[in-house]
Amino acid sequence: MAALPERHPNLFEDVAEVLVTEEQVRAKVAELGQRISADYAGRPLTLVSVLKGSLPFMADLMRAVTIPLQIDLMEVSSYGGTATDSSGLVRILKDLSASIEGKDVLIVEDIIDTGLTLNYLLRYLRGKNPRSIRICALLDKPARRLVDLQIDYVGFTIPDRFVVGYGLDYGEVYRNLPFIGVLKPEVYSHA
Ligand code: IMP
Ligand code: MG
Repeated sequence: MAALPERHPNLFEDVAEVLVTEEQVRAKVAELGQRISADYAGRPLTLVSVLKGSLPFMADLMRAVTIPLQIDLMEVSSYGGTATDSSGLVRILKDLSASIEGKDVLIVEDIIDTGLTLNYLLRYLRGKNPRSIRICALLDKPARRLVDLQIDYVGFTIPDRFVVGYGLDYGEVYRNLPFIGVLKPEVYSHA
């Protein structure tokens, strides 16, 4: 039987380094909200968030947008991958609950890494005839990109490191950290 990861009962103790602080996230979300409000004024905006990692970002971003909008939620999982690598094989666990036909869709993502998940999602959503479809990602990790994607709104471009917090997990844990950070090496090596 595999050993359980060695975790400190206080999540904060497992963090080696904070890459993006809570204050930096808050300021960036406000800025993105303003840009989106200006760009989509007078248009039928639908934010589509991809669970679970994008949950805090979506919740904050939608409140930073000052024009009318609708939200919808999808959940996808990539299978065949590991805790730190996605495989590009995507399974839809929760589909849209309303039609996006004729809507201006903005996909709200936590992080674009290889881009395989988003590439799949884009093809899937384009098939539903939205009026437009664009991407808003809090974090961009371009070093590992495998497919060419245009990300219209980017919060922070980060180096090739596995990050947790503000929705992002390692083995489903650490999503509730209020900042974006990197874990101590011993935490990863115990998984
Ligand atoms: P992609 O298909 O490789 O772009 O991976 C996208 C998904 O992988 C994200 O939505 C995350 O769930 C996960 N992911 C990629 N990089 C990280 C990371 O550094 N920390 C936590 N999750 C990550
Ligand atoms: Mg994940």
